[in-house]
Amino acid sequence: MHTTFAGKRIVVGVTGSIAAFKVAGWVSSLAKEEARVAVMMTDSACRFVAPLTFAALSGERVHTGLFDQEGDEAIAHIQLAREADLVVIAPATAQTIARLAHGLADDLLTCTVLATRAKVLVCPAMNSQMYSHPAVQENIERLKGYGYQVLAPECGRMACKEEGPGRLPEWELAREVMLQILAEPDLSGEKILITAGPTREPLDPARFLSNRSSGKMGYALARTARRRGAEVTLISGPTALSCPPGVSCVRVETAREMREAVLAHCQQASVIVKAAAVSDFRPATHFAKKVKKEQAELQLPLEQTTDILKELGKLKKKDGFLLVGFAAESHNHTAEGAKKLKNKNLDLIAINDIGSVNTGFEADTNQVTLLDKDGSSMLPLVSKEQTADLVWDHVVQMLEKRNRKQD
Ligand SMILES: Cc1cc2nc3c(=O)[nH]c(=O)nc-3n(C[C@H](O)[C@H](O)[C@H](O)COP(=O)(O)O)c2cc1C
Repeated sequence: MHTTFAGKRIVVGVTGSIAAFKVAGWVSSLAKEEARVAVMMTDSACRFVAPLTFAALSGERVHTGLFDQEGDEAIAHIQLAREADLVVIAPATAQTIARLAHGLADDLLTCTVLATRAKVLVCPAMNSQMYSHPAVQENIERLKGYGYQVLAPECGRMACKEEGPGRLPEWELAREVMLQILAEPDLSGEKILITAGPTREPLDPARFLSNRSSGKMGYALARTARRRGAEVTLISGPTALSCPPGVSCVRVETAREMREAVLAHCQQASVIVKAAAVSDFRPATHFAKKVKKEQAELQLPLEQTTDILKELGKLKKKDGFLLVGFAAESHNHTAEGAKKLKNKNLDLIAINDIGSVNTGFEADTNQVTLLDKDGSSMLPLVSKEQTADLVWDHVVQMLEKRNRKQD
């Protein structure tokens, strides 16, 4: 799996918290995403999880003592500090947080953090009373003052059977924060509006007309744009997905609601990407009560919904928002895409082949063709997250070109 982590040197410092076992999962996931993971452990951490676990998961020797060096080996803390693209302290105990806050350098982990100029992410995990103690809070503020990023612990029931803030967050959130730190902020300053998912057009309280869109592509676009520094609003039809961290989400159900939400947000946006599969039709009548089997007509009269993308194309002003459409096509892909690009006044269209199991609706992978007035390019078959990044690469180029023209 090739992702942003591939080839990155991630130095993970594990300290003596009960949550150390969770970080074994993080290390395993980082290694799966082809990061080069180096693990350092405090003496207390080694009492919770054996270094062998981390060695097996990372595929590298685990660094423990400051003076464990053999022969003419490079000085471990300096080497790790220099190599690191990112240093992650997880779980971070109250003790290690205090040592870092006061610049102590009495073990490998603290020496490495002092010696590195890489970004540092500290992930506190402890009993909630410990966490809310002013001494811990003051130390965390100090760490923020040094420019370290702090991943706030989650609330919930802990090993000590108490409830409150102190739990180490799950990998999905930690991953997102790490990727945000590692990403190039080339969309910073942009206000991006993205639509995702299907719409549901009700027939009666029990039935609706919808489509197979899972929302995965639109959510991947939102997640990656946020990572790259954009302010993101995601207008989503009904999906099983949760709102990506740092993204402002607006939930809608019908094409009508989607249109209202888009029109309410579009003028503030510098880029709009319409990845939602808005229903083209709705039942002409909406029955307030469930239609009984016996009374049902066997024909369903439909009416057309408004084409939101086309409406946005008409609203678009010169040098206003950049408008990107997604088109799901099963045949004549490029010709159909070219028609939509022109008729709907789009700046860019991503044409989705829905004829294959690995692309389009519900799949985790995608292959799209990007088409703008300068030509077309077929992107490789990759994950939807990678597809999203490639779409943003193209958008960044278009924004740069536009800015050059305006200068
Ligand atoms: C069973 C057990 C669980 C512990 N869990 C935590 C914890 O979650 N967070 C924390 O800050 N300290 C925890 N401690 C206390 C630390 O292990 C202790 O402060 C230690 O000195 C930390 O050293 P280190 O920061 O160098 O790893 C725990 C101790 C024990 C015995």
